[in-house]
Amino acid sequence: MRLAILGAGSVGSTLGRAWAQQGHTVIFGVRDVNAPKVQALLTETGANAQATTLTDAATQADVIVLTVTWEAMPEVVEALGTVDGKVLLDCTNPLVGNQLDAAVNSTQSGGEQVAAWFPGAKVVKIFNQIGWETMANPQYGTEAATMFYASDDADAKQIAAQLGSELGFEPIDAGALQASKFLETLAVFWGQLAYGQGLGRHIAWRLLKR
Ligand SMILES: NC(=O)c1ccc[n+]([C@@H]2O[C@H](COP(=O)([O-])OP(=O)(O)OC[C@H]3O[C@@H](n4cnc5c(N)ncnc54)[C@H](OP(=O)(O)O)[C@@H]3O)[C@@H](O)[C@H]2O)c1
Repeated sequence: MRLAILGAGSVGSTLGRAWAQQGHTVIFGVRDVNAPKVQALLTETGANAQATTLTDAATQADVIVLTVTWEAMPEVVEALGTVDGKVLLDCTNPLVGNQLDAAVNSTQSGGEQVAAWFPGAKVVKIFNQIGWETMANPQYGTEAATMFYASDDADAKQIAAQLGSELGFEPIDAGALQASKFLETLAVFWGQLAYGQGLGRHIAWRLLKR
């Protein structure tokens, strides 16, 4: 697949490196292609990765992966314009400080807000609910961490689940995009456990079934 990773910070660089290793073409969409950290990431990631502007990356890709900060979203929306028909994996959390943005979450989730910003895109909420440290290695002993995802589009869900599986997660369908609110709350709860309870950042979710 051709994957546009918008943002090359902790989450974007981790996901991009891992998917490039899996053989995907990874196009990082960044503000400054020549920034030393972007160039170092490209060197480290190898031949399957390249970097360009946010708009170019999104235009070239089949799947767009949103890994910028919530505060950056208005600028990113403006830069991208329409992304009709594309799968858009929303890894963001609508955080202001450590709390969910009340302006968003009183009426809808961040995932639904992203879908409202990009009405033609097939938005999937995913990769938002655990720390970046786990994203390229979700194996805990003999068990794989769970990755919940939510979307209104069945085909997009399949692609998201496949990309999650390729990283080693057990993907679990959490339902329609409206369920993003649960995934975003889960991210805040992850933070409470990691920081508030001192469990550290290498914690992840696992759904038990019988
Ligand atoms: N950190 C985690 O463990 C984690 C886990 C799950 C989800 N998330 C969510 O994932 C998102 C990214 O988190 P992160 O930890 O990867 O953040 P990060 O390391 O701070 O990286 C943020 C990225 O966004 C870019 N960016 C910032 N403002 C921008 C703008 N105005 N236009 C374009 N790009 C802009 C930054 O580019 P520059 O380098 O040019 O500043 C950087 O590449 C957040 O929404 C976060 O809530 C984070």
